[in-house]
Amino acid sequence: MAGPRKGDDVVIDDPNAREAEYWATSGRSWIEHEAFQDQLLRPVSDVLLGLTGFQAGQRVLDIGCGTGAHALAVSEAVGPTGEVVALDISEPLLNRAAERFTKARARVHTLLGDAQIADLPNGHDVATSRFGVMFFADPAAAFANIARALRPGGRMVFAAWAPVAANPWWRLPLNIAKARLGSPPPTPPNAPGPMGLADIGFLEGQLIDAGFTEFAVTPTTITLGYIGGPAEMAALSIRIGPAARLIRLFEARQADVDAIEEDLARAYEDYVDDGVFAMPATLNIIDVRVP
Ligand SMILES: C[S@@+](CC[C@H](N)C(=O)[O-])C[C@H]1O[C@@H](n2cnc3c(N)ncnc32)[C@H](O)[C@@H]1O
Repeated sequence: MAGPRKGDDVVIDDPNAREAEYWATSGRSWIEHEAFQDQLLRPVSDVLLGLTGFQAGQRVLDIGCGTGAHALAVSEAVGPTGEVVALDISEPLLNRAAERFTKARARVHTLLGDAQIADLPNGHDVATSRFGVMFFADPAAAFANIARALRPGGRMVFAAWAPVAANPWWRLPLNIAKARLGSPPPTPPNAPGPMGLADIGFLEGQLIDAGFTEFAVTPTTITLGYIGGPAEMAALSIRIGPAARLIRLFEARQADVDAIEEDLARAYEDYVDDGVFAMPATLNIIDVRVP
């Protein structure tokens, strides 16, 4: 594999060096809370699998695979004659994914690299991603690189978050953390991050510039439930996700962190129905092709 990644030594001329650094460190929280992420995000994989309609024997590239849960689901769908390449910029996350693929005896190969510049193997039938493509410094360049990894007529189908306002999973932790700690410095529109591709007009432009055609978007609202309940979810929210990002950014005092956790637990109570905690999640499923 070409590309400048080597462990945690972030090469400065990598256009995504900051994201690489972020995912090398915060990736450890993802690994720690892997079971929670797997349970919470499984419905997103189910939607992607349903809309993509993977066929046995297909060759698939999973971009930003994290600890590999989505790649494993895709691997099951393409069966033993298919093959999945799971790409990620974060070495700790990819190492964990590799452990899981080996344990599951899945036909999934890992590739450490930046999707924007890595020398990707070509000829894939489908590129897929569950929330792994919103972090590129130059989305059009990254999507063009992914397009080159597809066979003629190949598809890319991925999930990206819709705006914060439509997503209590983001809105509540963000607003509650902001109320205690203040707002982070403003970021330019469409900056890399979880909401980096929430603007559909911007996203379509980037994909067209990258050489994709037949742009189709399916806005999708699903319910994501967490068996742990509001208090446990609040405890997780101060370690992972948007509130955790602000807590780290402001190096928040313990008293503020405790207050954020309490406020969040109260806010999450509004989403308990019949003893089950679940909140809606609005995302966009994007489906494009290379000519
Ligand atoms: C929100 S996580 C999603 C992980 C996984 N797809 C899942 O659903 O569990 C985003 C992932 O994208 C990866 N990532 C971010 N920028 C990347 C890049 N330029 N190239 C490859 N992977 C990247 C991160 O390391 C992280 O694993």
